[in-house]
Amino acid sequence: MTSFKNRSLLNVESLSTEGIERLFSRAKSIKNQINAGQLPQPTLAGKQIVLFFTEASTRTKLSFQMAAQRLGAQCLIVDDQQRSSLSKGESLSDTFWTLHSLRPDLIIVRCGGEAPLEDWIEKSRIPVINAGFGSIAHPTQALLDAFTIEDIFGSLQDRRILIVGDVDHSRVAHSHFRLLKRLGAKITVCGPKMMTTLIPQGIDVESDLDKAMKNCDVFMGLRVQFERHRNQSFSKESYIKNYSLDEKRLQNLPKEALIMHPGPVNWGVEFQEGVENHAQFKMWDQKQNGVFVRAALMEILLGSH
Ligand code: CP
Repeated sequence: MTSFKNRSLLNVESLSTEGIERLFSRAKSIKNQINAGQLPQPTLAGKQIVLFFTEASTRTKLSFQMAAQRLGAQCLIVDDQQRSSLSKGESLSDTFWTLHSLRPDLIIVRCGGEAPLEDWIEKSRIPVINAGFGSIAHPTQALLDAFTIEDIFGSLQDRRILIVGDVDHSRVAHSHFRLLKRLGAKITVCGPKMMTTLIPQGIDVESDLDKAMKNCDVFMGLRVQFERHRNQSFSKESYIKNYSLDEKRLQNLPKEALIMHPGPVNWGVEFQEGVENHAQFKMWDQKQNGVFVRAALMEILLGSH
C-alpha cells in the first residue's frame, strides 16, 4: 500500500483516504469472521513481531499481541525496562537497532516524545508501527476510534465530534484532529484553558461543556494525564465541576450520541460512576475494534492481504 511510507506507520497524515477505506474494509471482515466464531485465516503465519514498549500500555500492547496471534504470528515483547539492557544504560536507539538486527518482520513501538521514532522509521529496513509516541501521535487509536464511529453511523461525514479534556497532552487528540477531519467530521474541543492551548486551525473551541454537548454526535472523553503535568497547577475539583461527565450532565447529550474514551479512564474525573451504563457508551467496542483494526493494519503493512 503506497500510502504507508516504508510500509510503516508514523502518523495518520501519511495515509491516503483509499488506504483508510481499504484498512476499514479489511478490519470489518476480520470483525465479522471473529464475531461469527470463525477462525481468521493465519495470514501472518511465520511472522515474528517485536513489541518494543518503553511507556506503559494495556490495551494497545495486548490488542496488537492478540491480533498478531489470531493471525498466526509470534510476538516478542520488550516492555520491562528493568529487565532489559536499558537498565544498564543502553540507549533507546541502541535497543531499537538491536531489536531491528534480530530481523523480525515488524516492530511496534510505544515510546516517549524524546525517542527519535521518525529517524528509526526513516532508516528501518522493516515496517515499524507507532503505537503511541509521547504527546505527539497515536495513529492506531485514532484509526480504531474512527472505525468504531463509522461502524455505527456508516460514515464520519458531517458527524460532530466533541473532544473533552486534556487535549494538549493527548497524542490521541492530535491524531484525531488529522484523521477525523480528513474523513469529513467536524471537531469541537472543550476543556480548561491550560489544556487547550495547542488547537490547530479548523477545530472549534467551546468553553461551555453543557452547551457543546447539545450539538454533538460523539462525546470523546480524554484522560487527564496527571503524569505529564509536571509544572502546571491543576484543580481537580474545578475540572470535575466543569468537565466531568455525570448522569445529570448526560441529559444534555442527544439520544443517539456515542460516548467514547480511548482509555484508560480516571473514574471520578473524566467520567463519574453510572456513565458506563448509558446505552450509547461505546468504550468497550473501541477496545474490541482495536484488535480488528490492528490486525488489518499488520496484514497490509506486511503485504499479507
Ligand atoms: N488508549 C491507549 O493507548 O491505552 P493503553 O495506554 O493502555 O495502550
